[in-house]
Amino acid sequence: MSGRTVLVTGGAGYIGSHCTVELLEAGYNVVALDNFINSVPGPGPGMPPSLERVQQITGRHITFYVCDLLDKQGLQRIFQEHTIDCVIHFAAIKAVGESMQFPLLYYKNNLIATINLLEVMEEHNVYQLVFSSSCTVYGNPESLPITETHPTGDVTNVYGRTKHFIEGMLKDISVANKKWNFIALRYFNPVGAHPSGLIGEDPTKAFTNIMPYMAQVAIGNKPHLTIFGGDYDTEDGTGVRDYIHVMDLAKGHVAALDKLQKEHQRLKFYNLGTGNGVSVLQLLKTFESVTKSKIPFKICDRREGDIVSMYANASLAENELGWKAKFTLPQMCADFWRWQTLNPDGYRKCAEANGSRK
Ligand code: WQD
Repeated sequence: MSGRTVLVTGGAGYIGSHCTVELLEAGYNVVALDNFINSVPGPGPGMPPSLERVQQITGRHITFYVCDLLDKQGLQRIFQEHTIDCVIHFAAIKAVGESMQFPLLYYKNNLIATINLLEVMEEHNVYQLVFSSSCTVYGNPESLPITETHPTGDVTNVYGRTKHFIEGMLKDISVANKKWNFIALRYFNPVGAHPSGLIGEDPTKAFTNIMPYMAQVAIGNKPHLTIFGGDYDTEDGTGVRDYIHVMDLAKGHVAALDKLQKEHQRLKFYNLGTGNGVSVLQLLKTFESVTKSKIPFKICDRREGDIVSMYANASLAENELGWKAKFTLPQMCADFWRWQTLNPDGYRKCAEANGSRK
C-alpha cells in the first residue's frame, strides 16, 4: 500500500535488500536496520553497500540504522523517530551447521531479538508483522509437495528450531492480544539475484548454500563442488529442493504486507516456493549450461541434518495472496551468475573502498 512506512529488520542482508527493492517500487517508505552479523557494513554508521545499490536501482531513499535487536533502547529510538505502520522481520542467522555448534548464539540472536522487537512494537501500537520463516520447520516431510497443514516441529537443527519456536510465540501472543496481525512466510530455497547484477548473496556470508558455492567453483575460487550424498532415494540419488528466485520471494512479502493491511487474520502461514523439486545434479547441469562453465564435483557422504527431498505446495499463497513464483531455474542461475561475475568479491571491494572494517 503506497505511503505506508515499513521497518525492515536485517535489511542489509540478501533477502532483506532484495525485498526492499520491491517494497520501494510498491510505494512503501522503508526504514531498515541491520547489525551486520550476516551482511557487509558501509563506512561507519553509513548506508551499507547493498542498500546503497538498492537506492541506485529504485531511485528512492532508504532510512538506515545500524541497530542490533538485542539493543532494545536503540530499537525504541527508531520507533520514536518514525511512525512505523508495519514490520518485516528478516534479521536472523541461518547457517544450519553453525547453529548446531553455537546454539546459544542462535537462541539469543534469533529468539531474544524477536521478543525485543515484539515488545517494542506493542509499546508503539504497531501490530502488523510479516515474519521470515522457513520450510525447515516441517522437518522431514511425511508427504510431498508439502502444504501449510503438514505437521511442524520435528526439526533436527537449532536454526530450524528457532524458526519453529518463533512461530509458536506468534501463535501464543496473537491469542492473548487480538490486535496482533501476523503472516509467517515459509521460504524454500532462495537463490538468484536482482537482474541488474548490483545486489546478490555475498559469498563470504553464504559459505554453505549451494548456489554461491557453485558460482565460486565456476569462477575458479574453489576447486570443485562437494555433493553431499549421491545415494538418496531420488531420481539421480542427490538431494532435492525447491529453489525459488529471490525476486519472487520479495514480491511475496509485498503481497503479504498488502494482505495484512486489507484483512485482520491474527496469524496465517504461507509457503513461498515454486512447487518444483530440483536435484543437486539437475541444478548443477542447469547452472553449467546457462553460464557456459564447468563445475567439477565429487560425490561424498551425506551432510548431517540434511533432508532427502523438500518442495512446496504453494497454492495457498496463490489463492489468498494472489502471489505465484514466476522466475525459471535458468533465470535464477543467470541472474546469480551476473551478480557473481560483476562482483567476484561480493560487496567486499566497495566496503574496503569506503574504508569500512569487518
Ligand atoms: C541445498 C542442497 C545439500 C552445498 C537452506 C538454508 C536454510 C533454509 C533452506 C531459509 C542440499 C546440497 C549444498 C554443497 C551440496 N533457508 N549441497 N553441496 O540445506 O536446503 O537449507 O535453505 O530459511 O536456511 O540453509 O540449502 O544450499 O545448503 O543445500 O551438495 O556444498 O544442496 O545437500 O541437498 P539447505 P543448501
